[in-house]
Amino acid sequence: MFNKRIKVKELLQTEITGQEVIVMGWVRTFRNNQFIALNDGSTNNNLQVVVALGLLNEDTLKRITTGASIKVKGEVVPSLGKGQKIELKAIAIEILGDSDAEKYPLQPKKHSLEFLREIAHLRFRTNTFGAVFRVRHALAFAIHKFFNEKEFVYLHTPIITASDAEGAGEMFRVTTLPIDGTAPKKEDGSIDFNEDFFGKSTNLTVSGQLEAELGAMAFSEVYTFGPTFRAENSNTTRHLAEFWMIEPEVAFADIEDNMNLAEAFIQYIISYVMEHNKEDLEFLDARLAEEEKQKPQNERQEFGLIEKLKFVVDNKFERITYTEAIEILLNSPAYKKKKFKYDVQWGIDMQSEHERYLVEKHFKKPVIVINYPAAIKAFYMRLNEGCETGRETVAAMDILAPGIGEIVGGSQREERYDVLLNKMKQFNIPEKEMFWYLDTRKFGTVPHAGFGLGFERMVQFVTGMTNIRDVIPFARTPKNCEF
Ligand code: 4AD
Ligand code: MG
Repeated sequence: MFNKRIKVKELLQTEITGQEVIVMGWVRTFRNNQFIALNDGSTNNNLQVVVALGLLNEDTLKRITTGASIKVKGEVVPSLGKGQKIELKAIAIEILGDSDAEKYPLQPKKHSLEFLREIAHLRFRTNTFGAVFRVRHALAFAIHKFFNEKEFVYLHTPIITASDAEGAGEMFRVTTLPIDGTAPKKEDGSIDFNEDFFGKSTNLTVSGQLEAELGAMAFSEVYTFGPTFRAENSNTTRHLAEFWMIEPEVAFADIEDNMNLAEAFIQYIISYVMEHNKEDLEFLDARLAEEEKQKPQNERQEFGLIEKLKFVVDNKFERITYTEAIEILLNSPAYKKKKFKYDVQWGIDMQSEHERYLVEKHFKKPVIVINYPAAIKAFYMRLNEGCETGRETVAAMDILAPGIGEIVGGSQREERYDVLLNKMKQFNIPEKEMFWYLDTRKFGTVPHAGFGLGFERMVQFVTGMTNIRDVIPFARTPKNCEF
């Protein structure tokens, strides 16, 4: 068998010396024709492989270059160097794949994140991206673990859909019709989607929520975890055109249950990573501290990465209403000194500067904001009773996180058939096409609630990476679909 290798991570933990093992990986550096730093992605820590003088011929030595892949048979020996308990004394080395040192884009030096984005096909091989993507994996695993332990059913909602779940219209069209102007047209000149693949106009989904609600009306508790797509032309450090979302949906639950679930969920997955990815977090913590040092004093974050995560796990989130949030903003020194670019008044869709003020300056912790104006939120959110006229609110819930802003969006859903129908009319949601959604309110409707966590924003929060493009393997953003 070719692959009887031991992983570097496992090997570095061993105390037993004298044994013979096989390792494989990529050469990070090769010093003095003697010391190979070998990495296989299982950890950021490299295995030191020691090549005795005369073991390899000149030709083989030349082929041990940064980026080359090798197979090493060696004996585990105590290390004389500091920082590692053991090293591998090479018995035989086989070159698996050469890497031309002159042409290999990843030199053993510090590269900028911008440059690494251009060579995203290789950036997994750096310490930063090694740590980020192992943490991303651990978070994904913890998410499934959390819901599995609570016996939620994992529902795979469709990626191609004919509905616009958020009613925001920022969708990518899916079609097999020709785009050269020869697509079949109706009498009024518009394209005849009856002739299209699905016999109707279809898009990539912006959210699995509406279908998740159907599941919740049978299983009581479900969640989705899948890719979602938004054709919003937002070139920010927090927006992707293709991102992953986790959407739990719970029957027999109100907005307070929803808040409790979201808070417990976020704390659980952070705790999981803190327990299982200690080394990666320590690396990212140090990396962030280094990055912060480059910033002027007043722009630096107060907490280190691990400190921040610990704080979030150990402390309750702040809970306020939208109306209270607006009050805080209106009374803030920032508002009075006209520091906000966008106006503040009841009814606005808070801008990221407002959200960041609330979490980073005012509360200094995650904040759950509920009861937003009905006019700025989606049609499916439950209308609150007893509102002042002109100040109708819905049982919406956004969670704002320090450094990120909105990380979760959710709500209690409108379970009352008549109220929902009315809302759909107001928002121009086609009732005929959405008969299936309305049916749940006709046949055994129940109070229910749910939310969506933006996975990449969560990974940003946990890794401390500033740009969302650096926490997804291959980012899709406006004018960019490389790899
Ligand atoms: O607030 P949003 O639009 O809510 C929904 O889609 C609901 N259907 C969720 C639900 O109740 N089941 O999106 C939810 C979260 C946001 O809070 C944000 O974290 C993330 O998804 N998100 C994005 N992440 C990256 N890039 C984008 N363009 C994003 N748009 C939203
Ligand atoms: Mg939102």
